[in-house]
Amino acid sequence: MQTAAQCIRDGKLVAFPTETVYGLGANALNPFAVTKIFELKERPSFDPLIIHIAELADLDKLVLGHDERVHKLAANFWPGPLTLVLPKSDLVPEIVTSGLPTVGIRMPANAIAQELIKTSGCPLAAPSANKFGRISPTSAAHVRKQLPGVDYILDGGQTTVGIESTIIKLTEKGFQILRNGVITQEELETVVPFDATSKIETLSAPGMVKSHYSPRKRMLIADERTLQRIDKSKAGLISFSGRLDMGFGKVVKVSQTGDLKDYAVRLFETMHLFEEDNDIELIIAEPVAETGIGKAIMDRLRKAEFNWRQDHG
Ligand code: TXA
Ligand code: MG
Repeated sequence: MQTAAQCIRDGKLVAFPTETVYGLGANALNPFAVTKIFELKERPSFDPLIIHIAELADLDKLVLGHDERVHKLAANFWPGPLTLVLPKSDLVPEIVTSGLPTVGIRMPANAIAQELIKTSGCPLAAPSANKFGRISPTSAAHVRKQLPGVDYILDGGQTTVGIESTIIKLTEKGFQILRNGVITQEELETVVPFDATSKIETLSAPGMVKSHYSPRKRMLIADERTLQRIDKSKAGLISFSGRLDMGFGKVVKVSQTGDLKDYAVRLFETMHLFEEDNDIELIIAEPVAETGIGKAIMDRLRKAEFNWRQDHG
């Protein structure tokens, strides 16, 4: 931990576990260090980073003013997989927010992440520790596979949530969701009203491109037409209910109890597994109903299949 914290203080990059996915961290207040994140990830500079804090006191330094709703949300969901997009203070370098007047902030629940932030003594700017557009990492091995050039990796085993944080922004009427995660609209609504009226401008979620989380081999969401056209014996199925399992070359059933949280935990892990498996030519994922956590899962699946669907119909 001391070595990792020293790396951060020296302006280097450290990959670390959070409860959602592994992050690629740098001192958020050092623009030169933050530049290295964009270089190593090959991430376009228009896609802003989230800042990770360990204590609420850090929030006040990084954002301009905030209201009672922020305190309520923090009290209910932090530490945890919720990112708040708020007006940024002058302390936050432009490169972190891609020039936007707002900054995304979250307090991760993972003990190693918290210790790294505290020991380094600075907030950490950290995107997911994958190459831009590829599958997010849920283990240290996934980070090594995609980012062998990282200065240091803190290994905290498998992550416990498995998909990225829910990102929200506050408007006069309430909150809007910029990215779905395991903290759902319904849960957030118990604390702050949902703003269903105004439309989210594209600029407010600049990194929300259609293609993302893309495996190196063809991946498609299962539907009737797709299942008829493919050679199942060469396909790996990411199975949730078990109803599609027949005939597939390999099947990973992500939940034994039908809990969507399990799907979130094992989705990226299974995509990595099939991506590395030479016996598998194609990855098929079982869709789920778009309610609760199902929204976040379907969002990740659609982005993962996007390029492949374009190419192969
Ligand atoms: O769970 C997570 O959020 C993980 C872990 C490492 O904390 N991090 C993560 O970061 O998923 P990343 O960079 O892969 O995705 C963050 C997304 C960006 O694509 C961007 O769209 C959005 O957050 N974002 C960041 N700052 C924003 C801002 N000021 N306004 C709108 N969207 C913002
Ligand atoms: Mg990412």
